[in-house]
Amino acid sequence: MADTNKTAKLTIDGKDYELPILSPTSGPDVIDIRKLYAQAGVFTYDPGFTSTAACDSTITYIDGDKGELQHRGYSIEDLASKSHYLEVCYLLLYGELPTRAEMEKFETTITRHTMIHEQMHYFFRGFRRDSHPMATMVGVVGAMSAFYHDSTDVSDERQREVASHRLIAKMPTIAAMAYKYSIGQPFVYPRNDLDYAANFIHMCFAVPAEEYKVDPILARAMDRIFTLHADHEQNASTSTVRLASSSGANPFACIAAGIACLWGPAHGGANQACLEMLKEIGTVDRIPEFIARAKDKNDPFRLMGFGHRVYKNMDPRAIVMKESADEVLELLGVENNPLLQVAKELEKIALSDPYFIEKKLFPNVDFYSGIILEAMGFPTSMFTPIFALSRTVGWISQWKEQLGDPQMKIGRPRQLFLGEKLREYVPVDER
Ligand code: SDX
Repeated sequence: MADTNKTAKLTIDGKDYELPILSPTSGPDVIDIRKLYAQAGVFTYDPGFTSTAACDSTITYIDGDKGELQHRGYSIEDLASKSHYLEVCYLLLYGELPTRAEMEKFETTITRHTMIHEQMHYFFRGFRRDSHPMATMVGVVGAMSAFYHDSTDVSDERQREVASHRLIAKMPTIAAMAYKYSIGQPFVYPRNDLDYAANFIHMCFAVPAEEYKVDPILARAMDRIFTLHADHEQNASTSTVRLASSSGANPFACIAAGIACLWGPAHGGANQACLEMLKEIGTVDRIPEFIARAKDKNDPFRLMGFGHRVYKNMDPRAIVMKESADEVLELLGVENNPLLQVAKELEKIALSDPYFIEKKLFPNVDFYSGIILEAMGFPTSMFTPIFALSRTVGWISQWKEQLGDPQMKIGRPRQLFLGEKLREYVPVDER
């Protein structure tokens, strides 16, 4: 912990309290309030955790004002253009970029864990065909706890390692199976001769009736989308995974909890909601109507894919995603995609509107991703499962980090109680 000799003084009812200030490698100082309740008998109050650091971490750093994102010190721009997803997985898990030999060993390990237990295929049969693939993923990933008993003991470092590899390897298989099940097509097994992104595309779009060649353009775009979603500090779903893990729950249960949280439209579900919004807008001339709704306090409508708790500048992932959208759509021959035109015009209009400028609302990672995914052939219902697939390595890396922290305690927030004081029970005939 970055102790300093600085303190913050708090005066309550005339009594002074000195609270230690801890300084990070990058970012704001933090006031250590761990002893506050014991010393002063008061809680701090921060619904939504807008000013609260829930842990320390060495994995991902975000500067919201500058719009910067780094994984283990490497910028997302560098990783998206020079690295690839499995290398980013290694970096997030182990803290350093791998040597060629380390990368080959890691890639072989992941490749050889991509199949799921054959018995798990029957889980899918229990769902309606029109189930949202996220519902299927929550169920099937949670059910991994019922199959992989040799990697559920979180106190065993080797079991933690095996669980990490199994989850990173099997998530594409499960996501692809959820998709195939939803369209009534047979499951396609993973192939060890394809790389991670190509394998996922093959499992989604191949059919037994004919050979399917993965377009390298799609595979590269898919890999970049995976990288852009890999980890993002203490976001809602990562915090959910950390809180679940703090009770000692097994890794599969913790990741299922993260998938459930990510599903919400305020979080990872925004990529699906954003594309549906762009379709509802339909044409550039209807943009002002939706901008007005987004600004109307009495209208719950929000511009999906806009705004962020941390970024008060452009989300650097949105910038890379926008460049990728131009590139992929042109290569796929759909550069005149009307949704892309609406998205670009919406961004331009919103970023010149005083409401969005004042509230520092910029496009986030979910604003352009859906346009690329739809152009690649995915239905909107698969957008958030792809986000979940990508973020699994982030959840797992943060999960591992927390389990390795000797200071780890079960997460147990308190409350500001505004309910009834103690009162006598009233018999029903006297109410
Ligand atoms: C992700 O945390 C992460 O890192 C998440 C993520 C990751 O990688 O894990 O980056 C992924 O979840 C990205 C965000 C995807 N969500 C959306 O695109 C949904 C639309 N955006 C919002 O609902 C909202 O911006 C949030 C949820 C993202 C952030 O909400 P905050 O930080 O709680 O901000 P807020 O709701 O308090 O909004 C501040 C103000 C409000 O106005 P006032 O009450 O101050 O007058 O800005 C307004 C909001 O009404 N506002 C919007 C808006 N987002 C915020 N107004 C219109 N459209 C929007 N999109």
